[in-house]
Amino acid sequence: MKIIGTGSALPTLTVTNEMLSEFLDTNHEWIYTRTGIVQRRIISDESLTELAVSACRNAITNANLEAKDIDFILCSNIVNDYVIPGLSCIVQGKLGANCPCIDLNGACSGFIYALDLASAYLNMGKVKNILIVCADELSKIVDWSARDTSVLFGDGAGAMVVTQGKNLKSSHLSTTSAVAPLYYQRKLEFNPYSKNEEFKPLVMNGKDVYKMAVNASIQDINIVMQEANVSPNEVSYYLLHQANVRIIETIREYLGEREEKFPKNIHKYGNTSSASIPILLDEMNKDGKLKDGDLLVMSAFGAGFSSGACVVEWGK
Ligand code: ACO
Repeated sequence: MKIIGTGSALPTLTVTNEMLSEFLDTNHEWIYTRTGIVQRRIISDESLTELAVSACRNAITNANLEAKDIDFILCSNIVNDYVIPGLSCIVQGKLGANCPCIDLNGACSGFIYALDLASAYLNMGKVKNILIVCADELSKIVDWSARDTSVLFGDGAGAMVVTQGKNLKSSHLSTTSAVAPLYYQRKLEFNPYSKNEEFKPLVMNGKDVYKMAVNASIQDINIVMQEANVSPNEVSYYLLHQANVRIIETIREYLGEREEKFPKNIHKYGNTSSASIPILLDEMNKDGKLKDGDLLVMSAFGAGFSSGACVVEWGK
């Protein structure tokens, strides 16, 4: 597998920490020192589908392809207007593509799971070009009156086109069933024959998530670097899920690596779930920060508890 195009799209509305403190008992200092977030983008006039389509168009153009060249669409998504059909099916139609599509729910780790599945599918030789799109709208599942969760997230979409190649050096996925630290129960219709659950917006035990994220990411990174036979001085960048600057810093300190090797954009966008690494990768690609041969370690973690990491060599 190799990555041949990237794209991203973000909502136009910027919501600063100060804007949140107008209706929540919070302040910029608390949010910034604990998370690194200064502002986030929140969907207002546009829709998540529009963002996903725009990110995909960007990625297809960046890959010098057209929608008809895409053989499969994998969409990482946990929140959108429809449960069925999957967001990937809606995106396919709007792109004018004509290929099978599927959504996957790997929470914030969804991108690494999608990349791993794409690689396996490419290795089977069934397809040539796969479009991966990670699009999420966590602003629709947080309780906007709860200061402990609503300040953490933002909306956005990131996409990439992958094709056959030898640039995925290693990958590792891990899932440990643990619902309590982070979950969201969808509100369902009343059923006269079964017990009807009480609906709760996103629930998170921040301290548990923090510990699980740090442990899982360090373990995954060590495994993929060993499998790829890569030493720290050979790694150009570590692209970590943009959940929280303190999580990223703790992992960086444990690995004993320099700060400039851990690019971040959480200060601008908050936590955009599985879209965070693809958005970051697209920014680096468009800013000309990546050169052929760069080794990228990517690591994500999220509800499940699920996590995954991979080593990818940059180069089209
Ligand atoms: N503004 C002001 N005060 C707040 C806010 C807020 N937005 N939120 C909580 N507080 C208060 C709490 O009520 C508490 O007050 P109390 O002591 O009077 O009870 C106090 O701040 C401390 O709360 P803690 O929960 O102990 O704060 P902590 O230092 O643990 O930081 C945080 C919370 C930032 C969520 C931290 O636990 C964390 O980073 N966890 C990781 C979770 C994460 O990043 N999740 C992202 C989504 S999941 C994912 O992507 C994998």
